[in-house]
Parts: sequence; structure tokens; C-alpha cells
Amino acid sequence: MYPRRMGAAWEAFAPAKLNLYLEVLGKRDDGFHELETLMAPIRLYDRLQWTPGDQTASGFSLRFDPSTPAALQAAVPVDRRNLVWQAAELLARDAGVSATGEFVLTKRIPSQAGLGGGSSDAAAALVLANAAWGLDYSRSKLSRLAAQLGSDVPFFLAGRSAICRGRGERVEPVANFPRLDVVVAVPPEGVSTAAAFQALAAAPAAPSHPPDSRSRLSRLLDLLQSGSLAAAGRWMTNGLQSVAAELCPWIRRLGTAFASTSCHGHMLTGSGSAYFAVMRSARHARRVAAELSSRNLGTVFASATCC
Ligand code: C5P
Repeated sequence: MYPRRMGAAWEAFAPAKLNLYLEVLGKRDDGFHELETLMAPIRLYDRLQWTPGDQTASGFSLRFDPSTPAALQAAVPVDRRNLVWQAAELLARDAGVSATGEFVLTKRIPSQAGLGGGSSDAAAALVLANAAWGLDYSRSKLSRLAAQLGSDVPFFLAGRSAICRGRGERVEPVANFPRLDVVVAVPPEGVSTAAAFQALAAAPAAPSHPPDSRSRLSRLLDLLQSGSLAAAGRWMTNGLQSVAAELCPWIRRLGTAFASTSCHGHMLTGSGSAYFAVMRSARHARRVAAELSSRNLGTVFASATCC
């Protein structure tokens, strides 16, 4: 993720992500869950603009660009609860600069979808404020702050496909990740990540080190890197899918719809509620997205992984 200067303002594009593999290895003493996941950024972006304030002015402002759809404006707060705000405040505190300036967010990534929009915006805010304030923090220093904001924020800061472990904050970027053409469906109801993990911890078979996770993930990655996408599809898995499907009945409906598309593999991303499939080509993705769009399953679109 790179900041771009536009006169007095700065801007960065914050991509959405898909989890192609997600196993929950167990519950930790700090209340979080130990994860093993493979995530890839996709070509669906929020845009964050930042105009640094005069150092004597007080406070931040955060507002939506008017082109942001009304439904997203209604779903996402633009006050202290927003991770953009928290990210800039955290960095200002750490660096000892006064926290002033204006953010404008052009929102395109749906929330409560497992697409990582809020976390990606937070990473963009860190990168922009770091540049605009001339702090020159290294990526590893920013990454430590990113982990305080949310488990997925360090992944977005790294800005490319990666295996993430720990609670998600230990990021190992992956080389030679292929372009995957995908179809993403976002149903009308979202899933709260905290609620999905709580439901998992309360489930009769609470997670405890599913066997061979490391070798299954490495098999999936080998197949993706060698372009064997049909075989790779069989190794895609999401350990949160069954609990998320109990919380949001749309997920099973989407699974059934995608099963009839001759895709390479399909599953939930993160804790949902967005569902996706890896398609055979960009053309196939566009055709299936158009077909599914007419079936009242929510918002359906074709996209692709970007790095
Ligand atoms: O880190 P983040 O704020 O995105 O997490 C949201 C919630 O999801 C946490 O409060 C926690 O309940 C749950 N979570 C978890 N284990 C993780 C990541 C998230 O239990 N590895």
C-alpha cells in the first residue's frame, strides 16, 4: 500500500481481501484464536484521502466522499469507532505529533463481510499519516502499531498475498502468487467477527489443532503457485464457515448457488458473510457474476486477486 501526494493532500487505495484458506488452531489465553490463513488482496478498493491539518488546529475530521453509496454510509461510523480515526490517533500518540487533519473516505468495500475493509482503511491511514507527517517509520515499526488496531491490519500494510499466523498479525508474504479470477457475493446480512469466534468457542467441537493444517496449507499454496487451480480448489477450507452459516442463513444458500457454477472451489471469506468462488477465467467470472446477480442473493461481482 503506497501513499500518493496530490498537492496538499495525500491518498492511498485500500484493497479488500479474500481468505483462500483459514484454520482456527485453538483458543488463546488472551481471548483471541490462533489462526493459520492464506489471504490475497483483490481488485476492490476503498480510497482514503488525507489533508494534514495546521498543527494549531484541534483534532481530526473524517467524512465520506459523497460518491459513497448510502447503504455503506449508514453501516460505517465516521467517528472515533472508525479504525481510520483510531489509526491516526495511535500514530500521532506514538510519534508525539498533534493529531490534526481531514480524512475523506470513498467507501466501496461492504462491512461485516469478511473482506477486511475496515482493517484495510486502517492500514491506509497509518501509511498516509506516516508520509504526511514525515515520520519515516519503517514497515516493521508501523506493523507493530497495526497489530494493536486489529488482527488483519498488518496483512494490509504488507500489501500482498500472504500466509498469516498468530492471531493474524504474523505475516509471511508469498512469492509468485497467481492471478485468480473470482466471483464474490455479498448477501444483505452481515456477520460480526467477534460473534463468529464466540460461536466457535461455544460449539460442542471447539477448535483444537485440526490435524495437518500446516501441510494442507502448504499443499494448497504449491498447487496455486504451479497454476493447478482445479486441484487447488479442493484444498480450500474455512474453519469458521459452519458457525458463520448458523449465524447467517444466506451462507448456505450462496454455497448451493456456487456449487452449480463449475468453479474450481468456493467458500466463505473470513467470518463472512461474503462468499466467493475461484473461476476458470475472467470471462467465466463475468458470466457467472451476471447469472448470479439476477437471483436475489445480494450484491454479486467479478473480481481478481491483485498481488
Ligand atoms: O482483531 P480484530 O479486532 O479484527 O478481531 C475482532 C474480534 O474477533 C476480536 O475481538 C475477537 O473476538 C475475534 N478474533 C479472535 N481471534 C482472532 C481474530 C479475531 O477471536 N485471531
